[in-house]
Amino acid sequence: MTIGIGLLGMGTVGAGVAGILTTPAGRHPLVAALQLRRVAVRDLTRPRAVPLPVEILTSDPNAVVDDPDIDIVVEVMGGLEPARSLILRAIAAGKSVVTANKAVIARYGEEIGAAAAARGVYVLIEAAVGGGIPIIEPLKQSLGGNRIQRVSGIINGTTNYILSRMAAEGADYAEVLAEAQKLGYAEADPAADVEGGDAADKIAILAGLAYGGPVPREAIPTEGIDRLDARDVSYAAQLGFVVKLLAVAQLVDAPAVPAKQPPSGLQLLDVRVHPTLLPRSHPLAGVNGVNNAILVEADPVGEVMFFGPGAGAGPTASAVVADILNIAGIRQATGGHPGGGVDPLLAAGSWRQCAL
Ligand code: NDP
Ligand code: HSE
Repeated sequence: MTIGIGLLGMGTVGAGVAGILTTPAGRHPLVAALQLRRVAVRDLTRPRAVPLPVEILTSDPNAVVDDPDIDIVVEVMGGLEPARSLILRAIAAGKSVVTANKAVIARYGEEIGAAAAARGVYVLIEAAVGGGIPIIEPLKQSLGGNRIQRVSGIINGTTNYILSRMAAEGADYAEVLAEAQKLGYAEADPAADVEGGDAADKIAILAGLAYGGPVPREAIPTEGIDRLDARDVSYAAQLGFVVKLLAVAQLVDAPAVPAKQPPSGLQLLDVRVHPTLLPRSHPLAGVNGVNNAILVEADPVGEVMFFGPGAGAGPTASAVVADILNIAGIRQATGGHPGGGVDPLLAAGSWRQCAL
């Protein structure tokens, strides 16, 4: 049985996904069953990194979502709209969705999760946090038996690339940012990276998974690296520290003052994003370049660290295709009925409960 894939967007990430889908040799055998059937882009005349037959390209994203030959819609166009509406439209049409769009999931994840649960389809988001690092699945599933005390980490590749280059060679902030954009690490509007908004989107998602969200995105105190310069990084080094943009979500003890206690059954969370001075011996201090790392402190497992490339075409496409394979595997096992309950932890209903 072949499985029809529709791509919404073929920029950095979309091209990486198309590259994997069109060269299945040596990969998981199910990749050969995935057929890229339609691709929506804005500009049909732009040369593409992966050559595709012209007839599968369209400038109308609805043509992808509504195509009856498409089983899984992959949203890698970015931005809030029309991405959110297209995801909901795909779900309403009974299609499972894979998205790398943390901005949409951090704000509308609850709505999207509810729609997916009601329609019995999947929405998987591994690529939305940490690029190529598997972190969503472990938090959702492999660490499910734990009480999570803290999730902290470096979850923006662009800013880590900038800070690492500033620390290693005193590189100029603006020049390295331009380089990160050229390498495909930065968001379409890089303000989301350097002002900390992208990391805030991602920690909202991780906190939702770890603590059974939703975590209100706009309530997260956020400070980026846009007000740092080479002197801050160099003074920190002279004092034995490195500067990293950290995102943190942790449980806090309820305050002693009864009036400030959270309503019964709710946990108090501290969630934030800001530049941080780390001693060189800290496990996150040696994470450099575009790499990300997420440290999970939980009971009873202890400390678990996830490390790897946090942005770019290849790593992000690796995570997107992992999600596609997850859904494809369940479709194959159930004869095309994704809500068939093969893996209750992956079923849309329980995904919503855990994540959002
Ligand atoms: P790009 O800007 O490189 O690509 C966006 C693609 O979407 C382009 O092909 C563009 O068409 C197409 N597109 C945008 N709007 C429309 C529209 N209205 N109709 C049709 N096509 C449209 O983005 P990225 O690939 O970098 O990122 C995509 C998503 O993945 C974002 O949500 C981002 O946050 C996320 N992400 C990105 C990572 C990265 O390393 N880049 C890592 C992890 C997640 P055209 O080419 O014609 O302009
Ligand atoms: N702009 C993002 C980053 C892409 O630099 O981390 C990966 O989500």
